[in-house]
Amino acid sequence: MDLYATTRSEKYFRDPLEFKPERWLRESKEVHPFSHLQFGFGPRMCVGRRVAELEMYVLMCKLLQRFRFEYHHEPVELRQKFFSVPDKPVKIKFVDRC
Ligand code: HEM
Repeated sequence: MDLYATTRSEKYFRDPLEFKPERWLRESKEVHPFSHLQFGFGPRMCVGRRVAELEMYVLMCKLLQRFRFEYHHEPVELRQKFFSVPDKPVKIKFVDRC
């Protein structure tokens, strides 16, 4: 399934190119559940989904507790390979909160 097309389509997302992380909140009704099937769907869907999501949440929480992120370079664009990848190194500065 072409996630790149569906997640950039105004048919499924209001202002699809805007950075609006709140659209992914559980209580948000904006996102159609079939517009983004990164883990597949149905009897053969990814069995590791919960583990993968939990690990990502824990990693982000731990990093945000410890660091503030800063970015002082050119905007990053997407390049399409098998996955979407950044078109340049993403030089994020980790500033220790302590
Ligand atoms: C961000 C991380 C991950 C992504 C995006 C992802 C994505 C996917 C996708 C798209 C499929 C195919 C689903 C389908 O055929 O409809 C799949 C299958 C599978 N994934 Fe993942 N996966 C991730 C992490 C993991 C992890 C951490 C595990 C193991 C702990 C795992 C185990 C599996 C297994 C065993 C299948 C085959 C399921 C089957 O064919 O019955 N995945 N995954």
